[in-house]
Amino acid sequence: MIVELKPRIYMLRTLDWERRLFDELIPLPDGTSYNAYVIKGTDEIALIDSSDIRKIEPFLKDLQNLSLDRLDYIVANHAEPDHSGAIPAVLEMYPDAKVVCTEKYKDIVGDLLHIPLERFLTVTNGSTLDLGNFTLKFIIAPWVHWPETMFTHLPEEKILFTCDFLGNHIASSEIYSSNDAWVYNAAKRYYAEIMMPFRKIIAKHLEIVGNMDLDLVATSHGLIYKEPEFIINAYKEWVSDTVKNEVVIPYVSMYGSTEKLVKYLAESLINKGITVKPFMLTATDIGELAMALVDAATIVIGSPTVLTGAHPAAIYGAYLANLIRPKAKFATVVGSYGWKGKLVDQIVSLLPNLKVELLESVVIKGKPDEEDFQKIDRLSDDIVAKHQELGILT
Ligand code: FEO
Repeated sequence: MIVELKPRIYMLRTLDWERRLFDELIPLPDGTSYNAYVIKGTDEIALIDSSDIRKIEPFLKDLQNLSLDRLDYIVANHAEPDHSGAIPAVLEMYPDAKVVCTEKYKDIVGDLLHIPLERFLTVTNGSTLDLGNFTLKFIIAPWVHWPETMFTHLPEEKILFTCDFLGNHIASSEIYSSNDAWVYNAAKRYYAEIMMPFRKIIAKHLEIVGNMDLDLVATSHGLIYKEPEFIINAYKEWVSDTVKNEVVIPYVSMYGSTEKLVKYLAESLINKGITVKPFMLTATDIGELAMALVDAATIVIGSPTVLTGAHPAAIYGAYLANLIRPKAKFATVVGSYGWKGKLVDQIVSLLPNLKVELLESVVIKGKPDEEDFQKIDRLSDDIVAKHQELGILT
């Protein structure tokens, strides 16, 4: 699908409606798109990013339909195969084209796509390419979300091509975000799953982008932004150190004991004015869990004991939370066992990336009784007190 965004500036939008999983990990409820861009300067022509290899045919067809008589540059903002996968095929189509990228990109892609070294043109922060009536200016922005990433600025038209940064996984015939909840949620899911582990670095890049005079933020996934402040303001909140008066409870239960503790705790916290988001780990969409972790002040992981350790689903939940590094301030474990258990130590050992204060855990033997529920009452009071100390609960 070719969209003329402005005279001589085209979007090649390859829709992947049916994709439901990214990296065999991340759920894609709305599919995704791979957005590439062609900038037809009066002297030279550049392609920005390409497509995932799984959609190479429609992408190359769009490129051919543009009937370019030359292609001088393929600007590669990011090495991951969903944007770089089609580059070797484009290099074959245009034997004089160079891949414009960071030095780190060259290092990564040399192994990933086997592009000959002489086809690369590396750039540094602030480097420019003169296309005639257009200029491409490069902003090196590492760890969005790989180490080689950069943004490409087209100052004459106030467009910033950010690749993954500020993106959303949406396959749609619509082009532009219309500021609705749909795009906000998709962008938050995207941030939670992909960008949150790099929150501090993302905040720095966000400051740079936020200070630019932009009419369009053109991402390489999903809908693009004619009103960049919509997504920039959303990101400012997500990357900030501020947490919300929320408790996220990823849990799993085998015979109902852990579930009883979780439900009792949830009800107690709700009654005290705290928003609670429980996620039953064997059935949950992990994207929803990741989104909840963007804001929450407290994480409570619930698990029964399998043999002598935590349930594998709880291990997965803890590992995932550690991987995406939410900004939560407090964490603890609730759970149960039949004859023996070490699940707290095991789960806590999986959370080294979380900068949290550990609250007193509650792990009980068998089915909870009155004394066990009193322990949950104390945990609930602890959480309330911590949230009050932070000033997020009055
Ligand atoms: Fe859309 Fe990091 O690739």
